[in-house]
Amino acid sequence: AKSSTSPAQEVETLPPKKVQEKEIPQKMIYKGSDAGSLDTCLPLIDIPTIDFGLLTSPESSAQELEKLRSVLSSWGCFQAINHGIEPAFLDKVKAVGRQFFALPAEEKNKYARDIAIGFEGYANHIINGEEQAFDWIDRLYLITGPEDRKQLKFWPENPESFRKILEEYNAKMVKLNEFLLKAIALALNLEENCFLDMYGEEATMIAVYNLYPPCPRPDLAIGLKPHADGTAFTYLLQDKEVEGLQVLKDNQWYRVPVIPEAFVINVGDQIEIMSNGIFKSPIHRVVTDSERGRMSLAVFCLPNPNQEVGPVNGVVNEARPRLYKTVKDYTSIFYSYFEKGTRPIESAKI
Ligand code: SIN
Ligand code: FE2
Repeated sequence: AKSSTSPAQEVETLPPKKVQEKEIPQKMIYKGSDAGSLDTCLPLIDIPTIDFGLLTSPESSAQELEKLRSVLSSWGCFQAINHGIEPAFLDKVKAVGRQFFALPAEEKNKYARDIAIGFEGYANHIINGEEQAFDWIDRLYLITGPEDRKQLKFWPENPESFRKILEEYNAKMVKLNEFLLKAIALALNLEENCFLDMYGEEATMIAVYNLYPPCPRPDLAIGLKPHADGTAFTYLLQDKEVEGLQVLKDNQWYRVPVIPEAFVINVGDQIEIMSNGIFKSPIHRVVTDSERGRMSLAVFCLPNPNQEVGPVNGVVNEARPRLYKTVKDYTSIFYSYFEKGTRPIESAKI
């Protein structure tokens, strides 16, 4: 006998799917060439891990340096473990960011970006070209070094410990970056200070807190559009729970899994230039999550803007002709191209 409450009948009474679909503002709908792949289940091939402890120990350093050379030439990024910065301190650095984003808008807007001055401050989307969709992001962008370039008017005073903790974090990141700049020289059998010297004294440090709120349509909006960084290196602390970062390799997007307490470190365009293209500045993007917000903290390390940056000694030879010009203040070049949608590094190629 037929029951009048069969599952099939129940299904039929549901409203058509379209009615259930939430809408988002037109200006948030991303139309880039990779838009079709935002909501798909991508392969989760772990990006390689580098153990910073092994890099310094005499028995293991040669092997780990070779691994570093290999991953930076293929992926251009890796997860750094055993980097020496205390997990409890990293939790604090992230907590003050979360506390800031949780404040009422009027409090956050005391530190609002003024695009006429620059990129520093709090803003709820990134401007990159009038035609383009907005990114699904809230962001606090601060120059953290050198000391005389800090503009404290953009630095939150709430939570109270914000400034002190970010200063402490900056000092640790300067050291970590110096360590890595030496390590990549050794990985290429070059003089240990060759990258560091080209970097110059008083290099620029920038901290960017990114908050990606839950997004009702992860298939339509993007957290951060595909880009490569204009830095030397970028040091990213991911959210401990919510994934979102994806890296392009061989024309395929890969998810970057969360390893709590690890840094995702990627080469930026300026190390690609200094290494004469041996190390690759990878294209990456961020997708959103429908249920959960995600917060990340990126630290951008860049050479001093007065410094001339080109391939270092030893990376240009007969087998590998010079591929990049010498550039100065690459960051300005980078932002002028970003708006046009072409890769800024193209302008540095010979
Ligand atoms: C970035 O590309 O700077 C941010 C990456 C992220 O939030 O995972
Ligand atoms: Fe980036």
